[in-house]
Amino acid sequence: MSRTEGLTTVQRVSAAAGAGRRRQDEVYRAGVYGHRPRVPVTSRALQARAKQALNARAYAYVAGGAGDEVTQRSNRTAFDKWAVVPRVLRDVSNRDTSVELFGRTLPGPVLLGPVGALELVHREADLAVARAAAAEAVPMVFSNQASVSMEECAAVMGDSPRWFQLYWSTSDELVESLISRAEKAGCDALVVTLDTTMLGWRPRDLDLGHLPFALGKGIAQYTSDPVFRRLVEERAAAAGAPRDPQPRPTLSAVRALVGMARAWPGSLTDNLRSPLPRAAVETFLSIYSRPSITWADLAWLRSRTRLPIVLKGVLHPDDARRALDEGVDGLVVSTHGGRQVDRSISALDALPGVVNAVFDRAPVLLDSGVRSGADVFTAVALGARAVLLGRPFAWGLALDGERGVRQVVSDVLGEFDLTLGLTGHTAIDQLSPEVLTRVG
Ligand code: FNR
Ligand code: LAC
Repeated sequence: MSRTEGLTTVQRVSAAAGAGRRRQDEVYRAGVYGHRPRVPVTSRALQARAKQALNARAYAYVAGGAGDEVTQRSNRTAFDKWAVVPRVLRDVSNRDTSVELFGRTLPGPVLLGPVGALELVHREADLAVARAAAAEAVPMVFSNQASVSMEECAAVMGDSPRWFQLYWSTSDELVESLISRAEKAGCDALVVTLDTTMLGWRPRDLDLGHLPFALGKGIAQYTSDPVFRRLVEERAAAAGAPRDPQPRPTLSAVRALVGMARAWPGSLTDNLRSPLPRAAVETFLSIYSRPSITWADLAWLRSRTRLPIVLKGVLHPDDARRALDEGVDGLVVSTHGGRQVDRSISALDALPGVVNAVFDRAPVLLDSGVRSGADVFTAVALGARAVLLGRPFAWGLALDGERGVRQVVSDVLGEFDLTLGLTGHTAIDQLSPEVLTRVG
């Protein structure tokens, strides 16, 4: 269905004006009455404001990357190696920024990527993101490390698109349970993140001795899972009463216990007396990742779901080719925001090789370093069907909850629409590497 079908004339005119002019209109009209946007528009200012608003651990967790954060910087500088060469005197008054992805028409080539432990930055965490994604009709990828269960998020999204991101646990039974829940929650695709079979070496978190999951944060997909809960109960029963003398509790330890108790379903007072919340964290830490997965395991996954399977974290053209030969439906070229391997090839530098290897056999998406509509334009011109936003929406969430996320999304889509038109284009299928020139 066309996006303008069923709209009133006024709405249709406004839709034709494009996301960019609509967003400018909204901001400049409000400015007449003295209102300014609630969160800064540029990503640098956004991050700086979020830094002021967040505590040191939360900020470090979101901002940080692996090692010296060279990959993280390369993810950004890779965009500077390309320049757009605008074309003039083409009628660009009507633009269509929509894209097709797994049977859905999206308003623009943008999704909200999976970002775990969002409760660190905002009380409503994933729930606020889910509401914002649905309001902007942008797909949300539920993180396996979410702070709110996929069912609760899906419940506020109507039939707006969502995907589920899976971390391959050592428990096959848990993986099966998560997949079937994702299917029931109306997810359109399963994203399997392959670059995090172990957590990367992250100095900022190491210096603070901070891992959210160890405090019961970011484990809601697990604590809401019947298989995981059974595993926790078994573990707690097998452990019996603690035998070793317990270390003297510190204030931090008490806080951690309260955090764990909050993460477990049921009343806080009961949970504070129960061994289950602590057993849940320990069970999670022992089963969340399986570094032994290989290509052979993909066939197992393929036979267990009817959802399209998208592999996230593919950077080498040979891996991309192999993935398609194994029946995978899509790829995300990603460095996990530079959080996993330092001195890795950047995502944008890896994109052309992967796109070339895939050659129209499946959609290739990109994340890592996308900060603006102009970045989206560059990634799409280099062959990405769409991009996933990561840190920028987390900063928006930190500053203004659901509204902050909505603003980030509409700013990025707005700038993308204007860049499309101002460079002489009216639709995404007109973009190719020819609209760019290499400058670095
Ligand atoms: C992530 N990312 C991530 N990826 C994933 O597959 N599952 C997850 O749970 C998380 N969690 C997560 C937490 C935080 C705080 C960040 C910043 C990132 C990676 C994410 O999906 C995406 O690949 C990166 O965020 C892209 O990099 P930029 O654009 O955010 O720098
Ligand atoms: C991270 C995990 C949750 O990047 O993917 O922190």
